[in-house]
Amino acid sequence: MTSWKSFRKEPIRGRRKSISSGIPSLTSEQRTDFSFTGFDENLLDVSEVMIEQAVGYFGVPLGLAGPFTIDGREIRIPMATEEPSVVAAASFAGRLLSKHGGINTQSTEPVMVAQVFLEGKLNPSSTEKVLNARNSIKEHLQRTLESMESRGGGWRDISARWIAPSRTLSVNIQIDVRDSMGANLLNSVAEKVSPILERITGGKVLMAILSNKSWDRTASARLSIPIDEFGGAGFNGKETARRIVRAARIAREDPDRAITHNKGIMNGISALALATGNDTRAIEASVHAYAARYGHYHALSQYWVEENTLHGSLELPLPFAVTGGAVGFHPSSRWCLDQLGNPDGPGLSRIAAALGLAQNLAALRALVCEGIQKGHMNFHARRLAYKAGARGDCISAFATVICSENIRSYEEASQRFTSWTEQVDVET
Ligand code: HMG
Repeated sequence: MTSWKSFRKEPIRGRRKSISSGIPSLTSEQRTDFSFTGFDENLLDVSEVMIEQAVGYFGVPLGLAGPFTIDGREIRIPMATEEPSVVAAASFAGRLLSKHGGINTQSTEPVMVAQVFLEGKLNPSSTEKVLNARNSIKEHLQRTLESMESRGGGWRDISARWIAPSRTLSVNIQIDVRDSMGANLLNSVAEKVSPILERITGGKVLMAILSNKSWDRTASARLSIPIDEFGGAGFNGKETARRIVRAARIAREDPDRAITHNKGIMNGISALALATGNDTRAIEASVHAYAARYGHYHALSQYWVEENTLHGSLELPLPFAVTGGAVGFHPSSRWCLDQLGNPDGPGLSRIAAALGLAQNLAALRALVCEGIQKGHMNFHARRLAYKAGARGDCISAFATVICSENIRSYEEASQRFTSWTEQVDVET
């Protein structure tokens, strides 16, 4: 293989060639796996311009979950995820809730924060100097924010905080970023304002960067469902609802449980983020910090029963964008936004909140009724069928055999697949 130094300078196809031909430890099978066949040429180009040292792309399955009724509109939601049962669970809850009015959502304005950290000859009263210069700072940013202002976003406010232990001044500038994630604009704002902040405070800028906190950019979702509709695994609706409420309450009280509970919510939200090309890490970082905002990590959703109706709600920061970065640039992301009816940024955040709540409801219902493994085993069977050699239509057919015969291991599945295909061949 070519040296790492020249490897990074090669074009993507050259890199792929040098990998498949140049690594002595690769078996000929692995080399063929990495050959050019089976890769979309356009996506290779897309990968090349999206990241550095690209050698291909990773095909995460894309599902279309639903139907959902969100704010009275019926939609299907694209989800990119590697985890079986996630799309089925979202669809289960989406369908059930659609029969009862669906999910209602709300969102705040998409306000994000650019941060500048200053050190040097500063003290707590430096915060006053910044606030007194609010208007000139705003004026200084006029050109940078011009285009965002013309779209209804732009400057919102400024605040300053003294971080005593490290004797640092933190200046936070709030910007409405409308439909974008805002990272580029916020970083430009932070860097543009740095010299003027140095002049005003007499300090020196240490760093200037957006904050992924995003707590001013939240979305919330609400659901209500008659409890009679909601039984499962030998429990009637009332008992199922009671168990769901209790499970959610435990997740508000016990951080260990809350982490898994919130992971279930993010099964939906991260899958939508990935499908639409949004920044999954920024969203996740903000969501988990929000879950710990009262000093201990807790569940983000709540459930309660009132007059034979189970109610659920979820509120969380959701900095979803519909333009900028990979969003709308990656062809799959464009297709996914089309499927959603091309919402604006806050609209996509509301869909994400609804999906997170639906995902959570399905997971809780499965957990407190039949248990999570029953659903999992059915999906596991499909993978086992594939690993044993089944392809195309045979996957589902052989998965049914795996389930009915309670086959658990690859060895068993593989042996049974041989006899099963012989049997199918004889029958056809
Ligand atoms: P079920 O009751 O066996 O489902 O549940 P069903 O076969 O009776 O089908 C009911 C509906 O579910 C279907 O309606 C579909 O809408 C949907 P239909 O179309 O038949 O009229 N559905 C499917 N949709 C697409 N593909 C499928 C499919 N199967 C059902 N193959 C189900 C089965 C999987 C829905 C249920 O067991 C479930 O919701 N399980 C939860 C699964 C889950 O959350 N998985 C995520 C991984 S576990 C995790 O990470 C989160 C967790 O740890 C979070 C936490 O702890 O809180 C659990």
